[in-house]
Amino acid sequence: MELRKEIDRLKREKNAVILAHYYQIPEIQDIADFVGDSLDLSRKSANTDADVIVFAGVNFMAETAKILSPEKKVLIPDPEAGCSLADSCPPAGFSEFREKYPDHIVVSYVNTTAEIKAMTDICCTSTNAVKVIESIPADQKIIFAPDRNLGNYLNSLTGRDMVIWDGACHVHEEFSLEKILVIKDQHPEAKLISHPECQKPIQIVSDFIGSTSALLKFASEDNGSEFIVATESGILHQMKKRNPEKLFIPAPPLDSTCACNDCKFMKLHTIKKIYNSLAEDKFEVTVDPEIIEKAVIPIRRMLEISG
Ligand code: 13P
Ligand code: SF4
Repeated sequence: MELRKEIDRLKREKNAVILAHYYQIPEIQDIADFVGDSLDLSRKSANTDADVIVFAGVNFMAETAKILSPEKKVLIPDPEAGCSLADSCPPAGFSEFREKYPDHIVVSYVNTTAEIKAMTDICCTSTNAVKVIESIPADQKIIFAPDRNLGNYLNSLTGRDMVIWDGACHVHEEFSLEKILVIKDQHPEAKLISHPECQKPIQIVSDFIGSTSALLKFASEDNGSEFIVATESGILHQMKKRNPEKLFIPAPPLDSTCACNDCKFMKLHTIKKIYNSLAEDKFEVTVDPEIIEKAVIPIRRMLEISG
């Protein structure tokens, strides 16, 4: 059986769409109807007229799709596709934390569970975070959750003094500054481009910092020909596809015995699991309707602000 043909047939039969994050394996990015970063995928989930969304991403993204389109069936090919960053901000702990700052509003990165979104005033992604924060009056105090590296980066860019939840992503925390500096020595012309979830020492030596889409745009538009890329390795597929003449070097993680610059959750999905998901309606993502009612508000606010 030719899986790709069967996937196409099932998609037509069920009026389904496959949405994939840039961190998916190349084969999945190539069969998806739409590939994007967290913001692109939320927009697409809100606007698609498909009846079924197969979400090749992680749980918080599939939950966001369900929150935005509760009448649609949202499927995730592997239900174990979690997120170490979302897990670093458990609802009970965050609720207690929030109570300590009653005069603060909450801005949370979409990399959170639906329960955290239900306790949030405005969501953001790394693409629109500055715009979201700048839309809030300067004298309004803010709690930012859950990523400490992104939060500190945003404080330095916007001059705010947001209170930051102490969470992090296992992929972006793992890059080795020492190993990156060795590569820079070997490739003196190469520009280091990094995601703001990376730790500060990596940010300091970077030539450009941006969200996954911003890194892709920079790599395509910049006149440099060599780039060291400090984010999840899946994005290199699009960078190479769009710029076959340029060299892209994945930044190495601290522990060379593991492929830590691969998100172990994102990389759980396979073409076979996507086929099974479509064929057997597996695994359906559900969110408590009471949580949906609250969580949709900060997500819609984010979409309004970022246009
Ligand atoms: P963006 O897609 O917003 O760049 O987020 C990166 C990420 O870690 C997604 O899991
Ligand atoms: Fe979560 Fe990090 Fe994986 Fe993104 S790359 S899904 S933030 S663990």
